[in-house]
Amino acid sequence: MCAALVKIRQTGAIVPSQRFLITRMIAPVPETYKGRILELGAGNGALTLQLAARCPEAQILACEINPVLARKTRDNLDRAGINGRVKVISDSAEHLLSEMRRRDLEKLEYVLSGIPLGNLPGERTQALIDAISQALRPGGMYIQFQYSLIDRKRIRSRFRLLRTVPVLLNFPPAVVYHAQR
Ligand SMILES: C[S@@+](CC[C@H](N)C(=O)[O-])C[C@H]1O[C@@H](n2cnc3c(N)ncnc32)[C@H](O)[C@@H]1O
Repeated sequence: MCAALVKIRQTGAIVPSQRFLITRMIAPVPETYKGRILELGAGNGALTLQLAARCPEAQILACEINPVLARKTRDNLDRAGINGRVKVISDSAEHLLSEMRRRDLEKLEYVLSGIPLGNLPGERTQALIDAISQALRPGGMYIQFQYSLIDRKRIRSRFRLLRTVPVLLNFPPAVVYHAQR
């Protein structure tokens, strides 16, 4: 809560996502998935933990720009006995994605994000959506939640398919985008 309040625009919320929202976020990833999953804006790990529990054979790379929250996510994973297959790095999504491109790493099938796109300047949001799209393989899925529909058009313009799922039982109510390349 304190870490969220200190950087409220960057954090985008004062409480972690709740179970209805998390369920919608992780539902498209098959329980048997064995590949790599990238999570952007992990916060305190509310979603990371549920994703790790749902997909016990997947390798998860979670990135969080706020070092206090990144540490909290690591602690929460340790407490839940989840280690080894989830790596948490304290870095910006933009930097991580550009490093992945520079190193020509294998493209991803799933990118999940809670980054508050609506709080970023428009050109930065667009650049981030473009970088996410480039990190995905054809058919790969970008899953993003937001508390408004402000960036729906931007996402729609870069992805072949877009499903918008309202989650009214979250506080605050949210939408989840399932965008397929
Ligand atoms: C709305 S919170 C979501 C936290 C968590 N995923 C959840 O569902 O509870 C957004 C998180 O994204 C992080 N964030 C914001 N901008 C970021 C960026 N450019 N790169 C990485 N993380 C970022 C914030 O610090 C914050 O923890």
